[in-house]
Amino acid sequence: MSDAAAVHAELVERAEQAAMKLEKERNNRWYPSFHVAARSGWINDPNGLSFFNGRYQVFYQHHAYSAYWGPMHWGHVSSEDMVTFRREHVALAPSIEADRDGVFSGSAVVGDDGKLYAYYTGHRWNNMFNDDDGALQVQCLATSEDGVVFTKHGVVVEGPGLKHFRDPKVFRIDGIWYMIFGACSEDNRGQVWMYTSTDMFNWEFDRILFEDPNPDAFMLECPDIFPLGDKWVLIYCPMGPRKDAYQARNSHNAGYVVGDWAPGEDFKQLTDYRLIDWGHNFYAPQTFEAPDGRRICYGWMGSFTIGTPSQETDGWGGQLTVPRELSLDEDLNLINYPVAEIEKLRGEKTEFGSFVLGLNQDKVLLEQTPPCEILLDVDLSVTDSERVGLKIGLTEDGSHTYVGYDSLAERIFVDRRLVGNGDRGYRAAPFPGGDKLSLRILIDRGSVEVFVNGGVQSVTSFAFPNAGDRAVVLSSESGSITVDRLDIYPLDTIWEDERQ
Ligand code: FRU
Repeated sequence: MSDAAAVHAELVERAEQAAMKLEKERNNRWYPSFHVAARSGWINDPNGLSFFNGRYQVFYQHHAYSAYWGPMHWGHVSSEDMVTFRREHVALAPSIEADRDGVFSGSAVVGDDGKLYAYYTGHRWNNMFNDDDGALQVQCLATSEDGVVFTKHGVVVEGPGLKHFRDPKVFRIDGIWYMIFGACSEDNRGQVWMYTSTDMFNWEFDRILFEDPNPDAFMLECPDIFPLGDKWVLIYCPMGPRKDAYQARNSHNAGYVVGDWAPGEDFKQLTDYRLIDWGHNFYAPQTFEAPDGRRICYGWMGSFTIGTPSQETDGWGGQLTVPRELSLDEDLNLINYPVAEIEKLRGEKTEFGSFVLGLNQDKVLLEQTPPCEILLDVDLSVTDSERVGLKIGLTEDGSHTYVGYDSLAERIFVDRRLVGNGDRGYRAAPFPGGDKLSLRILIDRGSVEVFVNGGVQSVTSFAFPNAGDRAVVLSSESGSITVDRLDIYPLDTIWEDERQ
């Protein structure tokens, strides 16, 4: 083993040991059961999503030494089916000059030599400490034969030394490799840059593929581009835009534009910028193509600006969303919906059938809420309740998260004004219209993911309930609710070694 490899091996081992130590103190009251999270410590963006050696590989930005963001590593889990996971060793640690202050986000692809190629941003602060004196970011490469132990190859894209210059996403078309990443131009505009390569090591500047028309956006984090049908979807996370009515309420928001693109051409934008998800905690999504051709996306549930109580007391912070399949509808809206495999986690169904909940009624659906999934279909043509509401995680003291449909605002909401713990606030996605309301709500110990009418919109938020029995209650307000179907399934854990 070379000296550099030995140093890296020691640093990933040290991080692994730190995570295992902190894991012993982890409090599970809000720790996810069917979402990917680190065994302990902090995570942010999904990285290196790929299918390699017969398994789905899911890496993520990770700080193993505390539940807060710190010098970034890549943590790692893998799965044969996207719903049964095992933990893998911490994959990448800062160990060379180029990534001295962090192994930042990036992607992974399988080369013709059968190795996994992980491209990531090497991050250095000029003052070795914080952003005040600027930073230097370059794109780096590490390869692996088994997907677990990585060999670093150093910098593959130096760039012109821009302050924000990060998050490489690599893909191949007709034998040519393409890399896109986000940049902040010298005049402070958010851009997506493109490089190409034929051998995966030598990269050449191709073009500035996209500049956000919004002049407030100074950096586009975690860009991703992929075809759906005959269109291309460009996902990015603009830094800078201010709050705008219901949209862009978070300090960090993830969205997309749809356009036409072909190798050697500029990207032609056909739609306006739209949010992928309207919740409090959905950021830095990354996609990959599954072996059967599906385009799958994981997002990060977390926040850089408003911490969670789990960080303060429970030894962990941040989780990934469930994997979601992406598609486009005829209006070029991006549909995102849990992959079909999630149904494999289902336990015994409780069916409530069809019924009418009368004026100003509460119906207890569950006395205690295990990690579960609720499927609710409502006939809006005969429903006159002002809201179709579900109180989730309702404890004796009245605290809960309120999720549902607001007929006045014509929106699907997650309202945390009475949440037991953590950040409050209200988020709401536009309801697509029509007489049929179909909600699919995934409830984990500390989160809700709400999918509207097959994934036309989604709302993803942390929701940390209080201790005690946590009920789910259906609630009508100043009118009645006509339910066509209401099914609830408990969902099993994704951790192989915790299954009964
Ligand atoms: C987005 C991001 C990326 C960066 C990483 C650092 O959440 O800021 O741009 O690579 O997180 O952890």
